[in-house]
Amino acid sequence: MKKIVINGGNTLTGTINISGAKNSVVALIPAAILTSETVKISNVPNLSDTENLKKIINLLGGQIEFSPGNLQIDSSKLQNSAIPEELSEKLRASYYFMGALLGRFHHVEIFFPGGCKIGSRPIDLHIKSFEKMGTTVKKINNKYILDAPILHGANIDLRFPSVGATVNILLASVLAEGTTTINNAAREPEIVNIAELLNNMGANISGAGTKTIIIKGVKTLHGATVNTISDRIEAGTYIMIGALVGKNLVIKNIIPEHLKSLITLLKKMGIDMDISSDSIMLNKTDILNPVNVKTEVYPGFPTDLGQPMSVLMTQSHGKCKFEETIYEKRTGHFSELVKMGANIKYTDTKAEIEGPTKLKGEIVSASDLRAGAALIIAGLIANGKTKISNIEYILRGYEDIVEKLSNVGADIEIIDD
Ligand code: EPZ
Repeated sequence: MKKIVINGGNTLTGTINISGAKNSVVALIPAAILTSETVKISNVPNLSDTENLKKIINLLGGQIEFSPGNLQIDSSKLQNSAIPEELSEKLRASYYFMGALLGRFHHVEIFFPGGCKIGSRPIDLHIKSFEKMGTTVKKINNKYILDAPILHGANIDLRFPSVGATVNILLASVLAEGTTTINNAAREPEIVNIAELLNNMGANISGAGTKTIIIKGVKTLHGATVNTISDRIEAGTYIMIGALVGKNLVIKNIIPEHLKSLITLLKKMGIDMDISSDSIMLNKTDILNPVNVKTEVYPGFPTDLGQPMSVLMTQSHGKCKFEETIYEKRTGHFSELVKMGANIKYTDTKAEIEGPTKLKGEIVSASDLRAGAALIIAGLIANGKTKISNIEYILRGYEDIVEKLSNVGADIEIIDD
């Protein structure tokens, strides 16, 4: 069983380069099958999620070439076929093949997607949107069969600005007959990145990044290239590490615009930051002011940074209040942090964190991707050795995290235990 072992207390100095965004590339890859020509994606992180999506494309008869950081996808020989459960359940983003296969073939057979256990994570908004576009949806146990003899545009009001549903509607509507309007669309930067690729392929999308997106269906799409945007969640995770143990630690290849809510919060905490157009330099800040954090949809404070943020709050001088509003139970990290000495009282969606508390190295377990990131941050500041299990969650979303941290002085390694 692989584990991450950290001996805490080192000061980290040097430069950490941020990779392409996991939550962009897991949608860019399925989007590429909407044309039979070649699509090239650059700045692609090498993650197990991208590996699993490549398996799905190969299973469908598509060709994928991966050179470091670049993907070339040729879907000229792509056939439509059912996507088996053992692949669908590997990651949440497998459900983007619903929108993509519906868009290209008007028929999909796929199983309920996987993803971190941080709530029920239904896909009702996706299904209802597809139905409004003329799709009949059959669910047999965990399998979905979607059929759309005529896939047509629709006026879709999203009850909640779901990132996944917004992306899936984009994928299904670009080749549909007529116009689709998404009201209350998600505004995350990843949505803009997907729309950029689709428009590069010849789609007609306007309003991506705002609450209202209009897609005018076109007859066909052609090959294109796109650069994956920088991963704002990976960047935010390392920025918080810099605030705790950095000495002139530079986090490079970031898009500060995408991190505004975090930067505002860190300034309130009194953190020493030097921000440039594509990087941020941090120094350990001894006195951290307590803050109250509530996760929200973009451009609010992102739910994916809530778990790493809770470690920073354990070091602030006073009482912090935390509220998770996107998921019903994203709490897998709290028990482990308490085990390490943190002073946290929590329910399914709220927490009161009092600091500063000295954390001590412990044997802990990652319950999901961002909980695992929080445990790495805790291990870096704790006294002694921290051993983290279930690290496959972490390696799914943070490219080369052990190398990136050891290159700037962390005492961290992966062992087989
Ligand atoms: C994406 O998940 C991200 N994953 C998540 O990141 C991120 O937390 C989330 O967006 C919110 O920003 C990927 O992009 C692969 P949602 P997604 O649809 O699309 C409910 C990470 O750590 N909902 O915006 O699944 C849902 O249950 C991961 O990188 C419905 O009720 O997020 C959740 O409570 C974790 N019905 C909320 O909306 C639906 O049909 C947000 O979901 C869809 C969603």
